[in-house]
Amino acid sequence: MIEITEGDARDIAAIMPVMQKAFDPEYGESWTAAQCISTLSIPNTRLVMARRNETAVGFAISRWVLDQEELLMIGVSPDIQGAGIGRSIIGEVVRNLKKAHREILFLEVRDGNPAYFFYQKMGFTVSGRRKNYYRGLTGAYHDAITMAYIF
Ligand SMILES: CC(C)(COP(=O)(O)OP(=O)(O)OC[C@H]1O[C@@H](n2cnc3c(N)ncnc32)[C@H](O)[C@@H]1OP(=O)(O)O)[C@@H](O)C(=O)NCCC(=O)NCCS
Repeated sequence: MIEITEGDARDIAAIMPVMQKAFDPEYGESWTAAQCISTLSIPNTRLVMARRNETAVGFAISRWVLDQEELLMIGVSPDIQGAGIGRSIIGEVVRNLKKAHREILFLEVRDGNPAYFFYQKMGFTVSGRRKNYYRGLTGAYHDAITMAYIF
């Protein structure tokens, strides 16, 4: 059974194995534990976690910046992707935002990341493109697609 909960900086050690497995190292998109902890120390930043048998199998970090909520990252352990955990995590992020009377969730995704199709399934629509926004570890540049989910 999958349990979805709110987390905080004390849970970062538990999510790091997911972080390290879920993101393709070619793009250098995963964060270190120190980056996660410092991000979560910023007010209005939230961590949602998914656990199976008390082991973290997924997470999302989002934050409220200026006047909008941004999904900074989401990851699910590769061995359990495609089982609805990402959907459950986004569901919890959206429930929390609705409670806070927020109406929109933004994100940026690297052009070519299959997560784009996941976001489409979750109801996000494309709102723009940032040329050469990401630089991978090989030095190649990639556009960012900006997406929004209005609820
Ligand atoms: C993106 C990610 C979080 C999705 O998590 P997940 O648990 O596998 O997603 P779910 O099983 O909840 O999928 C929900 C829906 O999206 C679809 N979906 C998920 N990944 C997809 C993909 N790569 N291509 C097409 N559709 C996809 C599923 O088929 C499902 O649709 P359905 O309900 O109609 O069957 C996961 O693939 C991941 O961790 N990716 C690597 C990290 C990453 O790139 N994160 C995004 C950038 S921060």
